[in-house]
Amino acid sequence: MIYLDNAATTLHKPDVVIDAVVKAMKTQGNASRGAHGATLSASRVVYDARVKIAKFFNFDKPSNVIFTCNSTEALNIAINGIIKAGDKVVSTDTEHNSVLRPLYHLQKTKNIDLQFVKADGKGVLSLDDFERIVDKDTKVVVVNHASNLTGNVNDIKSIGEIAHKNGAIFIVDGSQSAGTMKVDVKDLGIDVYCFTGHKGLFGPQGTGGLLVKDGIEIDAWKRGGSGVKTYSEDQPLEYPTRLEAGTLNSHGIAGLSAAIDFIDEIGVDKIEGKEKELTEYFYNKAKEINGVKIYGDFSKQHAAIVSLNVKDYDSGEVSDALSNDYGIATRPGAHCAPRLHIDLGTKYQGAVRFSFSYFTTYEELDAAIKALKEIAS
Ligand code: ALA
Repeated sequence: MIYLDNAATTLHKPDVVIDAVVKAMKTQGNASRGAHGATLSASRVVYDARVKIAKFFNFDKPSNVIFTCNSTEALNIAINGIIKAGDKVVSTDTEHNSVLRPLYHLQKTKNIDLQFVKADGKGVLSLDDFERIVDKDTKVVVVNHASNLTGNVNDIKSIGEIAHKNGAIFIVDGSQSAGTMKVDVKDLGIDVYCFTGHKGLFGPQGTGGLLVKDGIEIDAWKRGGSGVKTYSEDQPLEYPTRLEAGTLNSHGIAGLSAAIDFIDEIGVDKIEGKEKELTEYFYNKAKEINGVKIYGDFSKQHAAIVSLNVKDYDSGEVSDALSNDYGIATRPGAHCAPRLHIDLGTKYQGAVRFSFSYFTTYEELDAAIKALKEIAS
């Protein structure tokens, strides 16, 4: 199979990640629950992972690295734990349902004032719109770093500046940026960065987390065993315990930790550079095919994603043909990004998304281009 669905999950994981999970499953006890060798081994792996993740994103408080099972969970924790009844929240039409659905729910149940920045025909957000919509009443601004549909990378630093000058908390969905591009949360002015482990970071599914800047208060969302302060009736207030009741996925975290080492050894800049070249190579060839329409703005920084349609063919049928006739894996349909599909005019057709990784080869891209040409003709 030619796997071009890396924005959904990376399929090819480095061997060191798989080996780390297997080793953890054979050796790790329950982190922070007792002091025998196996539990200490788990505790050390989890602690090391927090330190590595903090350093990876240039975040200075490892104890505020909270583990979750994916970015949807991280985003739900941040959104539900910060936003209160009646708050004004600004988000965008380019968001995934992992942001939209928690916000719609708060709109229905807590009457929040929810406003969206629209995307233009290329899926681009305008800073002027942020300037117009974000004001002193805004409690939270929540935006993705890169769209999972167009691959457009948002100007996070400038959006953060607009949020902060109005006193708002800035939450960023890093699902498509973590591991695929340099993310410096301090430089970008991010208050809460939510990430998943199983996409660009090459970790196992069931891993992810959020980085919570010192001073940002997020309410506990689950309560239970923590291994500390057992006689307190309340969930301990300190991070990470406040947001991590119950046994951690320390086996998965061991894999994620090995994945960060793998990326650090190559260098995230090099990964970003290779993915950029692969994306440009595919984009430049695909845009020349008669009948192919590509979505997104490729003149600016871009994730390794090219979404397109062939004539007026249903995106599901094209993706099925790519899979069944050519062995090429892509994702069609709506990509859990309903507002952006509406803005792009693809609500009914959807789009066929090709997404690449560091392990994608030019031969695989050539095969995909050949297949697209045949389908289009
Ligand atoms: N959110 C993932 C995607 O974009 C699953 O495909």
